[in-house]
Order: sequence, then structure tokens, then C-alpha cells
Amino acid sequence: MSKKVLITRIIPAKAYDMLTQAGFEVIVWEGSGPMTQPQLLERAKEANALISLGADKLDKHFFSQCSHLEAIAQFAVGYDNIDVNEATRMKIPVSNTPDVLSDATADVAFGLMIAVSRKMFYLHKSIELGEWKQFEPLKNLGVELAGKTLGVFGMGRIGMVMAQRCRGGFNMNILYHNRTRNSEAEKRYDARYVSFDELLQQSDVLSVHSVLSDETRGLFNKTTFNKMKKNAIFINTSRGGVHNEEDLIEALQNETIWGAGLDVTNPEPMLASNPLLQMPNVSVLPHIGSATTEARNGMARLAAENIIEFYKNGNMVTCVNPGVLTKN
Ligand code: DGY
Repeated sequence: MSKKVLITRIIPAKAYDMLTQAGFEVIVWEGSGPMTQPQLLERAKEANALISLGADKLDKHFFSQCSHLEAIAQFAVGYDNIDVNEATRMKIPVSNTPDVLSDATADVAFGLMIAVSRKMFYLHKSIELGEWKQFEPLKNLGVELAGKTLGVFGMGRIGMVMAQRCRGGFNMNILYHNRTRNSEAEKRYDARYVSFDELLQQSDVLSVHSVLSDETRGLFNKTTFNKMKKNAIFINTSRGGVHNEEDLIEALQNETIWGAGLDVTNPEPMLASNPLLQMPNVSVLPHIGSATTEARNGMARLAAENIIEFYKNGNMVTCVNPGVLTKN
């Protein structure tokens, strides 16, 4: 009997095609939004494997109800929605989709940095409001990025591409803070490893590319914003939970830091009434880091490959808990 794979949202057809060609029965949730938790539980109970998305809550309770699952392939690089410890305890391998979205996500970080530095989103809105009357010698002034210092928090794959863009495009000095040293970044981009406090104190642009974990949750808050430069730009394209949004609003209102660019917010979605949306030095996007055709096709392909490889060879291409993989 063929194995059943549940895909929890409509994703690029590539995944569906690859899985059906490999002999799987594929069930796709075709709702316009994510399933409710009861819907997810009901459908997952009938599946052997899952292609999940960030909005699916695969927590302790989920695993207590779905310990029969044989494999989970997350359609995202981040997997903070999955209790991986619990999956590991149940011997369920979990994979994610790294690399294929690094360029797309770094482009958003790089774009936000430029947009914030020149107040682009705000000035676009001001034209719509009919506020462009004449050339203003002393108004709408931004800051230049050439030769400034980029601080990368989390020098993984996406942080590396952001460093490459900033080094190549603006000849920026690169500092980074990471769990481990990244010799490749040091060699290629002259990146310098610094302590977290030095990163806060020395960065003109501080770009967050870390995972959301117990260590990073709420890490960018009143205390840390207070250590940053007054002219600093804060960029977050990783997870909104890494910053405290109330504290960020206050830091911008008090001019503790200069500006912010967010592709991820806390909470998501951001309310239309959020004061950040009215600030000249702030640009916000609705979590579109991986939203290019190339990246999303790559994510679909990799998620399907992980499921196929698991059933074929007892392996996964990008497993996040490889200790549970055993040959079938
Ligand atoms: C990811 O891959 O983690 C992005 O946030 C897209 O969901």
C-alpha cells in the first residue's frame, strides 16, 4: 500500500508531482489559510508523513496524538513551530529547507537596509498623500551605507549572503556574533567575530539572521537597544520573536536607535494600527523573505526530496535531528 503524505497548504506543484511520481498518495489541504489545530490533528492521524509549514503547531500535544508519523518535512528553513525534542523522542525525523532560500531572504534584508536608510517606504506613502510639493534641501535626509559597519547576528547561510551583499555593494566592514566562529565568513568577507555587546556597540546596521530559540527569544529589547549606536539601523528577517516589539517602538520613538527594517514581526501578522508603520525610518514587510518563485520551487523540491529519500534509503537530505535516522 502506498504511503500517504499530507501537505498542510498548497505549495508549488513540484512537490506534489515528485511525490506522486514516486508512488506516494498525496493529500493537500486546500484551505485559504492554515488548518485549525483540530483539523491538523484529524488529517495528520490518517497520514504517514507530513510536509508542514511554519503556521502548523507541531507541539508536545500534537506528537502525543500523532506518534505514528514516520517523517516530517518542513517547508521552511526555520522550524521553531516544531517541538524537535519531542519528535526525536518519538523517533520521527524532521527536515527543513536550508540554502534554497538564502539569496531570497538576504535580498530582503539588504533591501530593507537600503529602504530604511533613505526612508523609502514612508516617502512613497507621502507622495500618495500629495505631500511632494518642491525640492527640500533640509528634509527627507537619510544616511549613507558605504563604508559603514554591518553587524550580523547569526552568521549562518543567510547571514553569509547578507555579508556578501554588504561587503560587495557598500564595502561595509563586517562584524558578527554567532554560536561558533565562521572561518569562511572571516576569509571571504574579512568578517570579525565579536562579543554580543561589541556587536551592539559597534554596528551601524545590525541584521538578525539567527534562529528563534530559548536563547534568542526577546534578545533585542530595551537593554540591548540601549547599547546600540544612536544612528543604528536594526534589521530583522529571521523571526519576530527575537525582538521585543514594544521595546523596539520605544527605542525608535526615543531615538535610542535610528531606524528599523522588519520582514518578521511580533506578533504576526502585524496590526495595521502598529505605530511602526507611521515612522519615517521604518520599513515593514509581511514575512516575504523566501517569497520568490525560485526559492519557493526550491523549497518544494527539497521538502519532497526529503520524504522520498527517507522512504527509499532511510535518509533525509537536510535532516535537523539526524540521530533518529536508521536504514529502513
Ligand atoms: C523560513 O523558511 O523559515 C521562512 O521564514 C519562510 O517561512
